Amino acid sequence: MSISYNGDKKLFTLETKSSTYQMQVDEYGFLRHLYYGRLVNGQDMSYIFNYHDCGFSGNPYDVGNRYISLDTMPQEYTSAGVGDYRVRSVAAVNADGSRCVSFRYSGHTIEKGKYGLPGLPAVYDNGGEAMTLTIMLADAVTGLEVKLYYGVFEELDIITRAVSFSNSSEKTIVLEKAMSLCLDISYGEWDIIHFQGRHCHERIIERQPAGHCVTKISSNRGISSHQHNPFVIICDHEATETAGDCFGAMLMYSGNFDAEIELTQLENVRLVMGIGTEGFSWRLNPGEVFTTPEAVLCYADGLTQLSHRLHRAIKDNICRGKFKRAHRPVLINSWEAMYFNVSEEKCYALAKEAADLGIELFVLDDGWFHDRNYDNAGLGDWYENKEKLPDGLKSLSDKVHGLGMLFGLWVEPEMVNEDSDLFRAHPEWALSVPGRAPTLGRGQLVLDMSRQDVVDFLYEAISRLIREGKLDYIKWDFNRCMCDIYSHELPADSQGEVFHRYVLGLYSLLERLTSEFPDVLFEGCAGGGGRFDAGMLYYTPQIWCSDDTDPIERLRIQEGTSFAYPVSAMGAHVSASPNHQTGRKTPLETRGVVAMSGAFGYELDLGKLTRDEKDEVRMQVEMFRRDEELIHNGLLYRLSSLKKNCGYSAWQIVSEDRSKSVVNYVAHEPKPNSWATNLKLRGLDPDALYFIEEEEMCFTGSSLMGGGYTFLRPTGDYTSYQIHLRKV
Ligand code: DGJ
Repeated sequence: MSISYNGDKKLFTLETKSSTYQMQVDEYGFLRHLYYGRLVNGQDMSYIFNYHDCGFSGNPYDVGNRYISLDTMPQEYTSAGVGDYRVRSVAAVNADGSRCVSFRYSGHTIEKGKYGLPGLPAVYDNGGEAMTLTIMLADAVTGLEVKLYYGVFEELDIITRAVSFSNSSEKTIVLEKAMSLCLDISYGEWDIIHFQGRHCHERIIERQPAGHCVTKISSNRGISSHQHNPFVIICDHEATETAGDCFGAMLMYSGNFDAEIELTQLENVRLVMGIGTEGFSWRLNPGEVFTTPEAVLCYADGLTQLSHRLHRAIKDNICRGKFKRAHRPVLINSWEAMYFNVSEEKCYALAKEAADLGIELFVLDDGWFHDRNYDNAGLGDWYENKEKLPDGLKSLSDKVHGLGMLFGLWVEPEMVNEDSDLFRAHPEWALSVPGRAPTLGRGQLVLDMSRQDVVDFLYEAISRLIREGKLDYIKWDFNRCMCDIYSHELPADSQGEVFHRYVLGLYSLLERLTSEFPDVLFEGCAGGGGRFDAGMLYYTPQIWCSDDTDPIERLRIQEGTSFAYPVSAMGAHVSASPNHQTGRKTPLETRGVVAMSGAFGYELDLGKLTRDEKDEVRMQVEMFRRDEELIHNGLLYRLSSLKKNCGYSAWQIVSEDRSKSVVNYVAHEPKPNSWATNLKLRGLDPDALYFIEEEEMCFTGSSLMGGGYTFLRPTGDYTSYQIHLRKV
């Protein structure tokens, strides 16, 4: 039983294979959080809290006990304005203008299976994997009620959380903060790990001690963003890749988010996470329900174990459709090969070269439609440019299919250029504030996805393209941050709902398209990895990881991404040298090694490669195809991630049955007179013998993990090595 309730003690215990989560309703009806961490085998954990009269921390009126204060009590979900001064789960404006809410327990249910969240992505149960606990809390004065949902996936070691608010009163209540998760982590010395960045430099790991201030990791850009990712880790200060308490919290949401972390006056950490509060307000009319996005929680011993658990949950219980664990076609993308200078002739020539090298999918990126000769026109007009594709999209698609390849297309549905037929016909479909000139981003405006007519238009436009262009793949891009938030359809007092309604509109469109076209592979993208989150992965099993295709830059980007997201989710391409973003020259081999640890492809003019380089590409494609199952579905071990300035990056992937492994090593710079690098491998069977193909020699698993494997001192710029191990 993964969920149990002890009625005498009013104690809820949730158990996964290796973690326990516990909470208790106290005699006053407050829902106390007791514990989350390693398995404690049924122990009642209430003993760890020591309540005392803490100066200036007030006491609920009916309690009559100075030891009991909401300001110091660990809680499952906070109230508001009634004496808990830490970061809180909720903010509401009541009909009388007051801002107080006090939640007390009003009931619970325990059910088999996983709760669902209407219109929102959520971790799903493949059959018999999950149980749901729903705890009801109510505010007696205002009639605001919440349901706290807990989905317990025992085998996955995952607990999901979400909250729904309902208004049982006669008057409107306005929600200004509605978090998906509140977690009070008990005493310890805690670090925060989060993933920051910018365009072309996403998800760079940053680790800092949790301080006595509120650390806020958030996005107010309308997308989860390049700058911060809706994934945070709270871990023991001493935690490493291999050991130490680690809590991962991942929000399945692609819009604005907040994760607030506070080390409180009593030295425990509170984390709240959910929809971003900036610009958010939601009118909850009598009888209405508001549901938050889902947060995914995972406890693990060490960062590697945390990643493994999240990767598994993403691959098996978040990504959907036939591609989730299946072969992903190796692709050639036209963007860095020809940018906007698209023509049928050039595309066909590139596709032909690619087919000859074993590449399986040709992707026609930006520049193919209407007036799209540069990035200031055309968005919204989703029909082909007749000068560039005189015989139409279908003709190119047929020709590419005739080469035995698949055909894919880039679109950026959520955007519109002022210079487009769509904008001329429907200026009110763009987000913009009446009387105010809108801020442009890449010369474009954002369509109002909170409107059903916009979503319907896009559904028609994209499904027509898929049908007529016989598309096998779609790259779904999004290239600016959102601002000038105003929907021309909503009344003034509902404008605080636009950000979230936008995300709901996007999800509804993706749901319609992905279920109507199950054979089409969708790849997410937002100027690279500006919307790389578990919400998007529910619809698109891979996401273009970054617009920076320089393999040395990609080492950090892909490594940071890997803390939460699996290799199979990260779009990664071999591009030209010198690289178009950095001007750096790197060996083709190194570009291949890095891109192969991703959803693999190419993005360069193949016609410019020498014969030897083409042979190398052919070999890379073959090697990836041979090892794809291992690379995409194996367990990833970061061998160098927490080492500062070690001068190289190394990582290893091991098949789940430990029969195969690939080890990758990339030198950041040549080091004269330096010693070779010895890497202690991980995840192997210590008692097995492994044949290393490149050495043509056998080693025991224990020797490779205990003594390590020694890579030769690199000479030349950005040398890489890859070794393949096979159990004999
Ligand atoms: C941004 C994407 O990340 C690129 O890969 C490319 O598709 C461009 N947009 C096209 O405009």
